[in-house]
Amino acid sequence: MKVLVTGASGNVGRYVVEELLKKDEHVVAAGQSPDRLTDMFNGKVEVVYLDFTDEATFEQALDEVDRVYLMRPPHLGKPEDLYPFIDAMKAREIKLVSFLSLMGVEKNTIPPHHKIEKYIEASGIPYAHIRPGFFMQNVSGIHSVEIRERNEVFVPAGKSKTSFIDAEDIGLAIATILHDPDQYHHTAHTITGREALDYDQVAEILTEVTGREIRYAKPGLLKYRKHYMKERGLAKDYVNVTVALYVMTRLGTAKDVTDDFHQLTGRQPRSFKQFAIDHLECFTKNEDSCL
Ligand SMILES: NC(=O)c1ccc[n+]([C@@H]2O[C@H](COP(=O)([O-])OP(=O)(O)OC[C@H]3O[C@@H](n4cnc5c(N)ncnc54)[C@H](OP(=O)(O)O)[C@@H]3O)[C@@H](O)[C@H]2O)c1
Repeated sequence: MKVLVTGASGNVGRYVVEELLKKDEHVVAAGQSPDRLTDMFNGKVEVVYLDFTDEATFEQALDEVDRVYLMRPPHLGKPEDLYPFIDAMKAREIKLVSFLSLMGVEKNTIPPHHKIEKYIEASGIPYAHIRPGFFMQNVSGIHSVEIRERNEVFVPAGKSKTSFIDAEDIGLAIATILHDPDQYHHTAHTITGREALDYDQVAEILTEVTGREIRYAKPGLLKYRKHYMKERGLAKDYVNVTVALYVMTRLGTAKDVTDDFHQLTGRQPRSFKQFAIDHLECFTKNEDSCL
């Protein structure tokens, strides 16, 4: 049987695919650009067109599939957007669904992930929720523009700490779970990096790794919102969600460090310094692959 990877071109999905292939699984990579997926994975996976907002695409995506990595595309803001796909999984023999959720969501009902977790649990499908902390890829991706162009970490997180995790490590944890589904029925795993850093420490590490003086600008929430909407031209809804996440971060919700990654994989998560070394080009050149 096959494993369906939704959001296969995304930060986490691409690593779920790669780690499943290392475990000799038959992978079906799903998304709205199948040709791109074929190129990304050098033809080593089956690809399928999937749009969560179009039920007509579900049957082919779930054909002969018995395990699913499920993610919520960031622009689908309502939990209900994923319910038809969850209903479609329920109608089939799915041994395990691993949903990419969010750290702390079991106590925080505001992010859509909370209701999506509850809907999956109520469906009766065996589940293993993955609740990661902030991705290191936020720094090498969306926030890398100000780091490259202005030598500034421009994030409105105040003095708070964040236990950043590499999306590659999240991919490994999810693939480990999907490869051994019976062991993880009805479980949840909070996956974080090995340390919680404030953004002054992030700037210090980036200074050391790039050899340039990089400072933490520590912008207020409104200044950040205005910059990302007016100068960066990012969509208002997207920027507002990130502002809400940084408000929570300031309240200390992003700083917990857990041992779940190690327990699942037997490895230690990658440190932010190692990540910065491995992704140096994102902080020095304008790399499309980083955004
Ligand atoms: N960034 C963080 O720090 C962080 C932390 C914890 C949790 N999360 C959660 O992680 C999730 C995002 O994961 P990610 O960063 O791996 O994804 P991502 O890089 O944002 O990529 C989005 C993926 O969704 C697919 N997609 C877009 N619209 C779709 C649709 N209508 N139907 C089916 N697929 C669609 C895209 O592929 P196509 O364009 O080919 O369809 C793409 O692969 C979000 O729910 C976010 O809240 C993020």
